[in-house]
Amino acid sequence: MPEAAVLQVEDLVVEFPRGRERVLAADGVSLDVQRGEIVGLIGESGCGKSVTALALFRLVPEPGRIVRGTVRLAGVELLGLSERELRRHRGAGIAYVPQEPGEALNPVVRIGSQIVDVMRAHRDVDRRAAWREAVALLRRVGIADPERRARQYAHQFSGGMKQRALIAMALAARPKVLVADEPTTALDPTIQAGILELLATLAREESLGVLLITHDLGVVASICDRVLVMYAGRIVERAAVDELFADPGHPYTRALLAAVPRPGLRRGALPAIPGAVPDLAALPPGCAFHPRCPVAIDACRQVEPAPVELAPGRSVRCLLATPSAPGGDARR
Ligand SMILES: Nc1ncnc2c1ncn2[C@@H]1O[C@H](COP(=O)(O)OP(=O)(O)O)[C@@H](O)[C@H]1O
Ligand SMILES: [Mg+2]
Repeated sequence: MPEAAVLQVEDLVVEFPRGRERVLAADGVSLDVQRGEIVGLIGESGCGKSVTALALFRLVPEPGRIVRGTVRLAGVELLGLSERELRRHRGAGIAYVPQEPGEALNPVVRIGSQIVDVMRAHRDVDRRAAWREAVALLRRVGIADPERRARQYAHQFSGGMKQRALIAMALAARPKVLVADEPTTALDPTIQAGILELLATLAREESLGVLLITHDLGVVASICDRVLVMYAGRIVERAAVDELFADPGHPYTRALLAAVPRPGLRRGALPAIPGAVPDLAALPPGCAFHPRCPVAIDACRQVEPAPVELAPGRSVRCLLATPSAPGGDARR
């Protein structure tokens, strides 16, 4: 059995006002990440993955707000901390690699110095040693000629290099948990493979816990240990990666796995499943997936399914899911 989770999120609810309505971008999200484990968070665009990730850092953009929930990092509850206390944990405890490099890199500070600043904000290390370590980190994330590159500025880096620099920055504080939001989406396949390999190595060798947001099932299959499937703000399935691919329990997961990328889009593109992603401001009653579900029954239009535990660590929010018989397949 795994030891206590390094990251433990319970019943996280995040809302955005929309006209007179409010939209629940995360609606009772619970998840955990163990040391050394890579957990994938998947689901179509707009289902609440990025909002969930930002909420862990209390960085939900205005006018969004966290309504309730707990986020425990190695036992410390983050959502109740003062801004100052929280800053200590951001970075050193839990670090974030955003979906887009955007403004995450400072345009007027050398890349190496930005990494050094992160290190020195969280660790007692002198500038010279920190610079050497920054160069080593850049090399580690696959940046060629890191001594020279460390002295350069963001505009001298390609998109892929910026993304790798951000990962180096995130790792500089030696976090226990890394939350990476589609960190390789913009990268070409070779670089993408290198970054995924690096994450896997850090998980294995340095017990880094990783929450990896992606819509790429190939990425999930290649490095995740467990998978959470999100739909309309909720986790609708959780499973070990082999189980998910061998025997997807939720009709939405099955649709995701069956979805063939649309012609003309490159490999790893968003899967296209029939029907539209629901508008969170106008969710249908019952199961949010029922209008797109090929196996929905009448009850699915009325009853909101609760998670059904199929086996330890394996649950599905579907009225049609049946728990395994006691003493049957369950491995308790
Ligand atoms: N800045 C925002 N303002 C208003 N609503 C937002 C904002 N960001 C996200 N949302 C709402 O939250 C939902 C989930 O967004 P997001 O977490 O970015 O989806 P994902 O990362 O899964 O593609 C969106 O569909 C939208 O309804
Ligand atoms: Mg997103």
